[in-house]
Amino acid sequence: MDGRILVINGPNLNLLGMREKDIYGEKSLEDINRELRVMAMEKQVEMNFFQSNHEGEIIDRIQDARGQADCIIINAGAFTHYSIAIHDALKAVDIPVIEVHLSNIFKREAFRQQSLISPIAVGGIFGFGALSYKMAFLAACEIIRDQTD
Ligand code: DQA
Repeated sequence: MDGRILVINGPNLNLLGMREKDIYGEKSLEDINRELRVMAMEKQVEMNFFQSNHEGEIIDRIQDARGQADCIIINAGAFTHYSIAIHDALKAVDIPVIEVHLSNIFKREAFRQQSLISPIAVGGIFGFGALSYKMAFLAACEIIRDQTD
């Protein structure tokens, strides 16, 4: 299957495996990405990974994805809840977006219960820890398959 998936992780997700393990689990971001790479190899999909703690860098990466990615999987971390700029960038590039969260943001603090990514996403997966990313990968493959049918 042809297709290019870009996985974007936002602030503090580079600390996975060390940070609030009771909420975010034991796996590092590299562990998660490695598992996704294996799945991508099996499906013969091209995967690119990007993590940044900086809003502007994430926006630049989203803009660069125009014409380069068929689907974006994004966990924007805390930017999810207030970054109009990331929302606008995702809207501007017109690439299908899947929103991911390790935790169930709707059963946490009130300030996490709003997402500025959801309104522009095809859909979202949250609350399954590292598995959320794998589920998002499978959804991305379906989206790409539908595009090429
Ligand atoms: C998160 C949830 C956000 O509220 C938080 O700021 C994160 C991680 C998640 O994956 O559960 O950094 O996006």
